[in-house]
Amino acid sequence: MYEQFIRPLLFRLDAEEAHEFTLDWLSRAGHLSPAISLIRSLYGKQVPELPVEIMGIRFPNPLGLAAGLDKDARCIHALSALGFGYLELGTVTPESQPGNPKPRMFRLPRQEAIINRMGFNSGGIKVFLDNIASSTKSAPIGINLGKNATTPIEQAADDYVSGLKQLYLYADYFAINISSPNTKNLRELQSVASLGNLLGRLSNQRKELTETFNRRVPIAVKIAPDVDNDSIAGIAELLVEHDMDAVIATNTTIARPGLEHEPLAEEGGGLSGIPLKERALEITKLLYQALDGRIVIIGAGGISTAEDAWQRMLAGADLLQIYSGFVYHGPPLIAEIVKGLEEKRTESGCSTLQEAVQQARRI
Ligand SMILES: Cc1cc2nc3c(=O)[nH]c(=O)nc-3n(C[C@H](O)[C@H](O)[C@H](O)COP(=O)(O)O)c2cc1C
Repeated sequence: MYEQFIRPLLFRLDAEEAHEFTLDWLSRAGHLSPAISLIRSLYGKQVPELPVEIMGIRFPNPLGLAAGLDKDARCIHALSALGFGYLELGTVTPESQPGNPKPRMFRLPRQEAIINRMGFNSGGIKVFLDNIASSTKSAPIGINLGKNATTPIEQAADDYVSGLKQLYLYADYFAINISSPNTKNLRELQSVASLGNLLGRLSNQRKELTETFNRRVPIAVKIAPDVDNDSIAGIAELLVEHDMDAVIATNTTIARPGLEHEPLAEEGGGLSGIPLKERALEITKLLYQALDGRIVIIGAGGISTAEDAWQRMLAGADLLQIYSGFVYHGPPLIAEIVKGLEEKRTESGCSTLQEAVQQARRI
């Protein structure tokens, strides 16, 4: 139904208009229990239970929604009903900000890709907090934190720490976004010199919050696919040294692989979807080599089939996320991927997906 009827209608609209229309609809549906029941029976109920226990969190399945789709936490109820194993909400910035001028989101249907330069359009933490506090959730929630465009890069840590403090009670985990290509100088924070300071601040703040609330919330750091291969081992060591729990690989890329004859390739911003798949997979492998299981890897970038999902797990990912694949294939993709992973588990004879993945990695 999605690819036959809904997608052609949505794709007649400009990419961001279609996005806003869908979010409005999902947000309204979230307040109507018959609509939620319908969404759940059409989609969520088709997704098999495939639990994974990671970072002390029980995920009903390993496939999450990647950050950027629900930046202000407006659609938690409806998105959970679709059957995602978890939702990563945000990126939220401390103060509200408009992001970059429009147009800033472009579909490349032939490549099943998207280019965006949204620039952290965000209602700010206050709006995010109001939305999340009044929502019903049925899956774990990650909160993806960013910095305001007006905050100098030298003070970026203040913005992330502020997000951590204000949203601590609402997150099952946090994601620290230092990899968006659309906020000036942000990706400098990935350099080994800056990263240590930032992670030190986050780790100290989390220690305080853990004591205050008697609850330790895991922190994941989201990295770009454009980092040099040579710097991956250094980044991995810093993450471990500063007690981070996970790394999300990857954000969008500023490269344009396979887009030689595509006029939209010249639009500035980050590329996601199938053209990103190969590089995101490579980064996952490199991180897995460097980390050797010491912290969790969350794989994102170009996953659009069950086989992509399985290959990403074999490469080292413990959890997965989709964004562009969801735009092109809609809610049925969630069940398709989770069913495919469940089949791999059954074939392996293992009782959990995690055991099946470990067994397959050894072969
Ligand atoms: C329109 C759009 C907006 C995005 N906004 C964010 C964001 O605010 N924060 C973030 O960490 N990642 C953001 N991303 C990146 C995705 O979370 C994901 O890492 C990336 O798209 C790769 O996954 P995919 O190939 O499945 O889309 C955005 C992606 C798209 C397409």
